[in-house]
Amino acid sequence: MALNPTDYQLFSHQIISWYKANPRDLPWRKTKNPYKIWLSEIILQQTRVAQGLPYYNAFVSAYPTVKDLAMAPEEEVLRLWQGLGYYSRARNLHACAKVIWFELGGNFPNTFNSLLTLKGVGSYTAAAISSFAFDEVQAVVDGNVFRVLARYFGIETDIASGKGKKEFEALANTIIPKDDPASFNQAMMDFGARLCMPKNPSCDICPIQQTCFAFKQGLVNSLPVKINKTKVRERNMHYYVIRCGKNWVWNKRTAGDIWEGLHDFPSFEANEESKSSKFELPINESIHLFPKKYRHILSHQKLNVHFSKVEVPEKNYPQLAEWCENQGYLLVEDEKIDQLAKPKLIVNFLNDAEI
Ligand code: ADE
Repeated sequence: MALNPTDYQLFSHQIISWYKANPRDLPWRKTKNPYKIWLSEIILQQTRVAQGLPYYNAFVSAYPTVKDLAMAPEEEVLRLWQGLGYYSRARNLHACAKVIWFELGGNFPNTFNSLLTLKGVGSYTAAAISSFAFDEVQAVVDGNVFRVLARYFGIETDIASGKGKKEFEALANTIIPKDDPASFNQAMMDFGARLCMPKNPSCDICPIQQTCFAFKQGLVNSLPVKINKTKVRERNMHYYVIRCGKNWVWNKRTAGDIWEGLHDFPSFEANEESKSSKFELPINESIHLFPKKYRHILSHQKLNVHFSKVEVPEKNYPQLAEWCENQGYLLVEDEKIDQLAKPKLIVNFLNDAEI
């Protein structure tokens, strides 16, 4: 399909008109403060608007400025992030705040290119911050934008390929109006999230249906094209929830695997002979398997998880403490458990098990 500037102008005009006629009252849209916009974008990389809002409000109230975030203990930042998953984003957030406060004199980077130097800020986030906070003409390009453009303009290039990404980025940057890049970007995000959804899009009430290639050709469900190449690893994990009176045994996860820096329980993995044979409990009596099995899906891993409870008699506390010391585990009292940053799987288990 040959496109000309009139097609682009019509598209951007219509999409911005729809956005302005259907506003959403979102706090990060009422500010030009790059710190708050950055916070919102990092949170929204991780979750949808409805789930992200309380996290945004919690972060802004705990850390009203980049200085407050820079000064916060990492443990506290991870605890506030708890439930969102993908904790490297929270660690990057914290690390960036420190760089901005301690190395850049508190001056938030104010161009697309300088924003890209921040850890965890890729071209999507840099385009969002630079357009919303500084009115720079940079198009955001993510799954929503791929979908809207692929359908409207009838583009069949694989969106998972490097070629596809370049093509969509070039198109979005051609279409974006120079006099209002922020509204265009917000409009594309909202249009993709609220009307032009991946499944069952609302074509019946879509204001640009008449000029949409996919709608006219009956190709709405075939576009965009995505050829999936990611390999997903299956893991079988078994946790031991070990208690001795008021004390629980916790494990702080280290680098090189999922959930770095978060807390879970001692565990072994089936299919990994070396680990399971090395794992020896401090006592072997009173092991009780929780009947519920958990299936937890991460971006590149699927976890099958069992939990067992191990009650250690209080008289054996010294022996347990020595075992923990040797294994590098932590003994944590009941009241302190809530403060530990934990993966969502563990939070779910604690809620279910009511222990
Ligand atoms: N998703 C990512 N960024 C967003 C924003 N600024 N508003 C709404 N949804 C978003």
